Amino acid sequence: MSAEDKIRNGENIILIGMMGSGKSAVGKELGCELEHRGYKFVDLDEHIEKHHGKIADIFATRGEDDFRFLESNALQVFTDKTRIIISTGGGVLKNEENISILRQLGTIFYLQAPANVLYERIKGDIGRPLLKSFNEFEKTLEEREENYKLADHIVDAQRSPRDVAQEVLRRWN
Ligand code: S3P
Repeated sequence: MSAEDKIRNGENIILIGMMGSGKSAVGKELGCELEHRGYKFVDLDEHIEKHHGKIADIFATRGEDDFRFLESNALQVFTDKTRIIISTGGGVLKNEENISILRQLGTIFYLQAPANVLYERIKGDIGRPLLKSFNEFEKTLEEREENYKLADHIVDAQRSPRDVAQEVLRRWN
């Protein structure tokens, strides 16, 4: 099925990848590209924050397990929706059940880049509670990569969000 047919059917686009891979920026670009076709961009982290407060506070007061629970629940909200582009949090596949929810939601794109490139983009960001030393970041990426690669498409994220968004649309066919 061509991308045009997919857009006509309102199929969703899901972006996954590590912190700093540009999921939100690319999602916004895709949202602009497809707005005139009725598409909307949804940032899953923002959705969680809207309902439950800042992510850093959720981690600090309730812990990561609770956050993961809220994250899975947030995903479920969108399973009956069409015409959305969703950017997910970098740890969304820590809960393996989420992969089947994501598959149900739409076509999954993994925005891939090396750990050093990603880390340079986001180091020092206090809004990301799991962002610690480079070594830990690199280890986390290694642990997660196998699951990220379950995506339908792997896209090189070492470009501008606009270029990555164009690549996503090309690969959607
Ligand atoms: C996380 C990534 C964050 C956010 C939370 C946990 C992770 O999202 O969901 O801090 O486990 O990698 P981004 O990938 O959008 O930074």
